[in-house]
Amino acid sequence: MHRGFDSLGPCCSVGWNSNGVTLTTSSAQVDIKALSHSVVRVRMVPQADANLRLPPSFAVVEPGWPIPEVTCEETAGHVRLSTSNITVEAQKNPLRVSFVRPDGMPVAADSPAHGMGSTERGAGCYKAFAPGTHFYGFGERTGFLDKQRTAMTLWNSDVNPHTPGTDSLYVSIPFFIAFSGQSAYGIYMDTAARATFNMGRPKFMPWTSEINLRPLPYPEVETGEYWFGTEEKRLDYYFFAGPKIPDVVRAYSDLTGRMQLPPLWALGYHQCRFSYCPERQVREVGRMMREADIPCDAIYLDIDYMDGFRVFTFNPRHFPDPAGLISDLGKDGFKVVTIVDPGVKVDSQYPVYRQGRRKRVFVRRPDGKTYKGRVWPGVVGYPDFARPASRRWWADNHKILFDAGVRGIWNDMNEPSNFATDTGTIDETALHGEPGAEVEHAYVHNAYGNLMGQATREAFARLLPNTRPFVISRAGCGGIQRHACVWTGDNSSWWEHLLMAIPMCCNMSLSGVSFVGADVGGFMDNADPELVTRWTQFGSFVPLFRSHSMIRSVPQEPYTLGEPYTSICRKYIKLRYRLMPYMYTLMRQCAQDGTPVMRPMVYDFSDDSATHAMYDQFMLGPDIMVAPVYLPGAVARPVYFPRGRWASLETGQIVESMGEHILVGCPLDQIPVYLREGAILPWGREMSYVGQRGQAIESIDVFPSSGASGNIFSIYVDDGETLDYKDGKFGFVDISYSAREPGGLRLTITSRDECYPCTMDVGVVHILGMSATPGRVLLNEAPLSRVASRDELDRHGFFCDPVTGSITLGLHVPSRHVAVDIGF
Ligand code: GLC
Repeated sequence: MHRGFDSLGPCCSVGWNSNGVTLTTSSAQVDIKALSHSVVRVRMVPQADANLRLPPSFAVVEPGWPIPEVTCEETAGHVRLSTSNITVEAQKNPLRVSFVRPDGMPVAADSPAHGMGSTERGAGCYKAFAPGTHFYGFGERTGFLDKQRTAMTLWNSDVNPHTPGTDSLYVSIPFFIAFSGQSAYGIYMDTAARATFNMGRPKFMPWTSEINLRPLPYPEVETGEYWFGTEEKRLDYYFFAGPKIPDVVRAYSDLTGRMQLPPLWALGYHQCRFSYCPERQVREVGRMMREADIPCDAIYLDIDYMDGFRVFTFNPRHFPDPAGLISDLGKDGFKVVTIVDPGVKVDSQYPVYRQGRRKRVFVRRPDGKTYKGRVWPGVVGYPDFARPASRRWWADNHKILFDAGVRGIWNDMNEPSNFATDTGTIDETALHGEPGAEVEHAYVHNAYGNLMGQATREAFARLLPNTRPFVISRAGCGGIQRHACVWTGDNSSWWEHLLMAIPMCCNMSLSGVSFVGADVGGFMDNADPELVTRWTQFGSFVPLFRSHSMIRSVPQEPYTLGEPYTSICRKYIKLRYRLMPYMYTLMRQCAQDGTPVMRPMVYDFSDDSATHAMYDQFMLGPDIMVAPVYLPGAVARPVYFPRGRWASLETGQIVESMGEHILVGCPLDQIPVYLREGAILPWGREMSYVGQRGQAIESIDVFPSSGASGNIFSIYVDDGETLDYKDGKFGFVDISYSAREPGGLRLTITSRDECYPCTMDVGVVHILGMSATPGRVLLNEAPLSRVASRDELDRHGFFCDPVTGSITLGLHVPSRHVAVDIGF
């Protein structure tokens, strides 16, 4: 247990209020409130700290949940608050809170011995858990997917390089999902201060030694207990009842807000390096990408584009004409993304610093003077993004970048990093907030990246009002998805890091951050062409697809790799562009309801215990399963196939599984990617960049499920770049199939284009996994004739492939009122 942990004693008064109850002990007040039928907020404030000044929540938004119906009950020993989905049961002596499902099963019960209480520096809670419980989430963490038996500190840190033993990274999200194997619940502890978790890490052996060991950063737990706590005097947590993992994830994202739909180009391939400089090198990257026929939408300018690393400047020698450069790149279809670090160089000749000082926008020392740290430019001041006036000032400074044509902003070093201290960040006693209402950095720390992201979004809103922002951030806390997408910081060009990126991105996704990716090829150290190739294959199925590498590392751009590597990267990057209709539809769904885009196997297959800790393969949306290759020289890898039929995306070959691992061949030019039975997968056109050609549905894979009568997939379509979609300017192309007796199939394709023109050409349809040859195929009631080879399908007709059992239909019609009937 925590040294100095002051556990709650008996409850001495009970006060009911709307949807909730306030319980008072001699040391604290505990407020419990049902926010929806499955979300409950628990807030403990020590009596001694009732007037403590703490910042407002940086993560929680008004979710707009309907007020739940609540029933209340009080007995001599207990207080109960029930919604249709969960009962909060508070035992009075000592005060302990637990949650009980409608079937009577208690979950997330305070541990009888400890429960909630105060620590020397903060507050926290011990809860009981059943053996075998899996824990997912926690934002950006090293290691595997399941965090059972691990202890963690959440404190945004610039660590370089990180290894599996690294504790804190750049993004801290104090949210987790506890999954028993049958049902799930979630807990989000709302804090931007340092947080600790101990999810059942076995205790150290008691032993005696003269060595003076440093105390552990997190408290130890008894068997069957876990801990979460914060270095903030109040404890404020939200309980999500589930009972399924997707219910928990969606409710968490209701609470902390949704990703905004990114511009479509942001789903393309991004090329980055520290740094392309001077301008000639940037042009060279653009030219080589197009010459080598590697699709690419974004080129990044790292810190060297600036004048002495002064933010909001261009280096006059190396980038004499940024607008000219960006306009030329634009003609070739590239967007330019510039890095913007928070540290503002202390330099009395530098207008941004001078103005910032005059406007008093910087974080202050306790004595009121500007707090100074050290980052790339040397001595810097840090904008106090917690103040609206500082955010606005920061936003307006983006004019020089946007005027030059920059369309994406890369927020880095925003933990914030400080090379001048042992802690690597700002002193915890530095002050944020309005004069007279200051809050210490310790309580704002993990939110600094969010606040910077908020300021950057404000820059877009003020200066490019109808352009969708693209903001990429290294740091963040709960709710960062509202402001920015996230890359996982300075990974290394190690095979181990390719593997680790899978669970890392999946846990980020479960923590609300779907638009996430790791630097393809790895940032630090030197990547060999095979590693870059395998990483590119994996990256092509990850929402954020950016290649990046460190100064002085060997080149990693796909066109530098040599053959066969360049061609294989080209193949996968092209595949990514063809996946856009599916990917964009998933992103839109996430923006609507928080459904994660990339997710661990357990998200879709929680009934299958083999998936519960699975970290080396993942689902992209509900229908695509990806098994990256993460070992050098591999020619095969075991892939787990949940029960059912799966079709290879590469060959259309069907795998029928009882729920088993199968060794799958993966020569260098292939990674195992499978389509789930029942799926409808639209493929777009090949493009060198988004918008190069009009959209079309080149082909559709339909994989009818033997068990289900039909399915529908609605491709989401809008202009991909403005905010007009918010005014309803979007449409859908609905693709559906349904089983027809006896054994037949009807396929329909219809555009819903009343508000946005989204009718496009449909080329061919592949119907996968059919065992019989159709007797007749009708396209809008006119018969299609059978052709002898697939090559003849550039016109109407159908072809049966006896090897894979697929039927390919040449349709070549607009996506309007299309009906295909297949009879056997
Ligand atoms: C940090 C970033 C990295 C960037 C470098 C230089 O290390 O994480 O992506 O290239 O700074 O700006």
